Amino acid sequence: MDRKELNTAKWGDVDQTQDTEHFVGYLDKVSAIEAVQAYKRRTYNLMKMKEGHAVLDIGCGAGDDVLKLAEMVGSSGRAVGIDNSETMIGVARQRSEALDLPVEFRVGDIYHLDEEDNIFDSCRADRIFQHLKDPQQALTEMIRVTRPGGRVVIFDVDWETLLIDAPDVAVTRKVANLICDDTANGWAGRQLFRYGKQAGLHELVVVPETAIIFEYALADHILQLSIAAETLQEAGELSASQVIDWVNALKHSDETGQFFCSVTSYTVCGRK
Ligand SMILES: C[S@@+](CC[C@H](N)C(=O)[O-])C[C@H]1O[C@@H](n2cnc3c(N)ncnc32)[C@H](O)[C@@H]1O
Repeated sequence: MDRKELNTAKWGDVDQTQDTEHFVGYLDKVSAIEAVQAYKRRTYNLMKMKEGHAVLDIGCGAGDDVLKLAEMVGSSGRAVGIDNSETMIGVARQRSEALDLPVEFRVGDIYHLDEEDNIFDSCRADRIFQHLKDPQQALTEMIRVTRPGGRVVIFDVDWETLLIDAPDVAVTRKVANLICDDTANGWAGRQLFRYGKQAGLHELVVVPETAIIFEYALADHILQLSIAAETLQEAGELSASQVIDWVNALKHSDETGQFFCSVTSYTVCGRK
């Protein structure tokens, strides 16, 4: 795989990529961040799960959230994970195999869920709306399968809020804009409230979550900062020396313990 390509636009169809393992590894790396674990716990709490509940995680990736949901609903409940990637569902099934948990994993598309109306007590979608071209339709489908009074919880990033402390403002803006604009729905975070309103969800709650990364290597791996800069160079928007200077400045700030990068996401929860 050509590492000079940004992955942001590829999440809509992971199985079509040459290096599906890289995408699974990315999810694991992100999930290991304590701030990520913390926001995930907050989304579980908003689902108001009880023993015996049937719950859905759509765009479940490698399925780790589904395992946690299954523990919360207990053996009389049901936690279903759906993802449109066969690779992701394969990994999720492997990870759940040895565990005695009430989980089901299925390949499926958020726009056309192969589920009956009103069957889930709550549904969640975690970092999938940023990859959707028709998020309103996706939410309508989540609401269809949720029972009246059940909770729908969506978490997503707003990539326009990506902040990187670097000396060259113009280069930094270009890199941040590319990362945002290369994502199918880079403004998902700010739009979740509107999707919820337009879909008629009640008792809407919005929770902002700002994640800070203090390590260049982690930020570069997750956000592909240097690849974004090189992509701009290939497109003729930055010179080779601008890219080298920009990356070196970030590495230097890391070496001196001053690297700072942050991005804000939003959780929206509503009742059907
Ligand atoms: C960034 S990952 C997040 C995975 C997981 N929710 C997590 O927090 O680790 C987005 C997931 O959405 C899936 N996805 C993208 N488009 C989809 C669609 N139309 N229907 C179902 N899943 C989709 C991708 O395959 C990927 O696993």
